[in-house]
This record gives sequence, structure tokens and C-alpha cells, in this order.
Amino acid sequence: MLKDFIQSLPKAELHLHIEGSFEPELMFEIAKRNNVSIPFNSVEEVKAAYKFNNLQEFLDIYYAGANVLIEEKDFYDLTWAYLAKVASENVKHVEIFFDPQTHTDRGVPFKKVITGIYKALERGESELGISFKLIMSFLRHLSEESAFKTLEEAMPYRDWISGVGLDSSELGNPPSKFERVFAEANKRGFKLVAHAGEEGPADYIWEALDLLKVVRIDHGNRCLDDTDLVTRLANEQMPLTICPLSNLELKVVKDLKNHPLKKLMNKGLLATIHSDDPAYFGGYMNANYLAVADALNLSEADLAQLAKNSFTASWLPDTEKHRYL
Ligand code: HPA
Ligand code: ZN
Repeated sequence: MLKDFIQSLPKAELHLHIEGSFEPELMFEIAKRNNVSIPFNSVEEVKAAYKFNNLQEFLDIYYAGANVLIEEKDFYDLTWAYLAKVASENVKHVEIFFDPQTHTDRGVPFKKVITGIYKALERGESELGISFKLIMSFLRHLSEESAFKTLEEAMPYRDWISGVGLDSSELGNPPSKFERVFAEANKRGFKLVAHAGEEGPADYIWEALDLLKVVRIDHGNRCLDDTDLVTRLANEQMPLTICPLSNLELKVVKDLKNHPLKKLMNKGLLATIHSDDPAYFGGYMNANYLAVADALNLSEADLAQLAKNSFTASWLPDTEKHRYL
């Protein structure tokens, strides 16, 4: 069965917002111990509220959920729950985003956020055998100044952070807004990635490449609007971290049968499959592989290629990558 085949593939998760793995059950538990009220009475009520017409409608609920996270242990429990889940799906390596400004803007110290996440990742490596990288993502609806401030706050933890990214409300917040911050992050040796071409136009993907100098594009679906861009992405074997269930739930595609993944693969692009915000979009890694495999009639060879691509696109050293290629 396709499901068993997907389960059997070793996979790398490269596009996952840790705040987006916050399951309602854990949200209630943490809200209770922190004495924070949430506007829902039950897990069912929470899940019923997860209906989105676009990215912004999702982000409003995603940031509201994150308000419950206050103590180091909250970030630790969140991350540990995610790792335990994906260990059962044969995920061997994770490169996960966290959004520090979502928390520091509410007065939660950067130190608590990153220490909780990092300690869980270390435990995941030693107990579950999941290697990891951590990516600090700037919120693009906030100012350049706020991103610079966040970069400074991160410096005491420089060794814990492999890269910086760019997420949140895409339309109206082009990559160019963060050109100087990314140049500074580059100088400090961070690897660079950015969400581009999820809701935004192909132009934003050009900007992410040329102005931000990213080494991966998160989403990038809209590249198909621009043939020169597709040629460039294929020539450079620039990874596109594709998130099928996210695209469906945020109405980036109407139906998974129209999902551009197969087209991207046929054009020689380095596409990979990930879960983005699995607690909100209804599935972790294997569910994303299975949904898109069913909708697009992907073969076992296609799926094996996608899983290999996830290691090719990862920041594992070549010696470790080769185990999976
Ligand atoms: N896009 C932009 N910002 C985000 C996303 C996304 O899919 N998930 C969490 N923050
Ligand atoms: Zn994302």
C-alpha cells in the first residue's frame, strides 16, 4: 500500500513552523497551567474554527494560539510533542522555524523561547535519533527595525541557530523590505531562506533570490507564472519546500488535483514535501505525502524521489546526506 511505502521512506522536514504544530489538546493543557483563557470550550470547538479562506485568516488564529506559550517548559513541551509525532513517521532530520517576534512582542524573553525549543531538539537527537537545525524566522508584517532587533537578540545563541527565514503576511510585504537585514544575517554566517510565491507573485521569488540571496524558497508555487524564473530555479536546483495540505487549507489551490507539484517535478525543479503548520492544516509529513500522491497519482518512484530531494535540499553535511541518497 502507498501508505506503508510512504511510512517506510526516510524523510527530512524542512518547512515546519513549530508554533504551527501546537495541537489543541496541548493548548488547553498549557492554557490551564498558565492561567490564560482561550476563547474555546473544547478541542472540537477549536478544530471547528480552523477554516480559512486565505493566509491572513490562518495567521490571526495561529498568533492567537501562540499567546498561550509563556514559559520555557511550554516551548519545550511543544517541540517535544512535535518530535515524538514525527519520529513515528520515519522523519530522520528536521529543520524547523520558530517565530521569536510572536513571543518577544508579548514580553516573553527570547531566552525562554529558544532554550525550550533547543533542549527538546537535543533530546530528540539523543533519544529519537532525529538530527536537527533551527531557523529563526522574521515576521514580514513587522518592520525592518524589529527584524534587526531580533537579529541582535539572537546573537547570544548564534551557535544554536543555523539560518534565518521570512514568514507571515506575504502580500504587501515583499522580500525587498528585508534586504538589509538579510545582508547582515549573511555576514554573520546564517543560511538564508524565505517564504515567497505562496500568495505573492513570482516577482517576490526573484527578489528572494536576487536581493535576499536565499538558498531555498519556502512554497514558491507561483514560480510557474514565469518561464524565465522556472528555468533559473531548475538550473540552480534551488529547492522549493512545498506544503500540499497548507496550500489546500489556505486556498492557494482549490483542489489538490490542481496542485502544481507534478508540474514542478516535470520541469526539473527540486521540489520537496513538508507540513508547514500540521496542527492547523490536518496532517503531518506522511499525510502530506499521501494526500498529494492520491490527488496527482504519484508513483512510488516519484515519492522516493521527493523523499530523497528532502535530504538533498537539507543542510546536513554531505557525508550524512549520502546515507539517504
Ligand atoms: N506562510 C506564511 N507565514 C506562515 C506560514 C505560512 O504558510 N505558516 C506560519 N507562518
Ligand atoms: Zn510556512
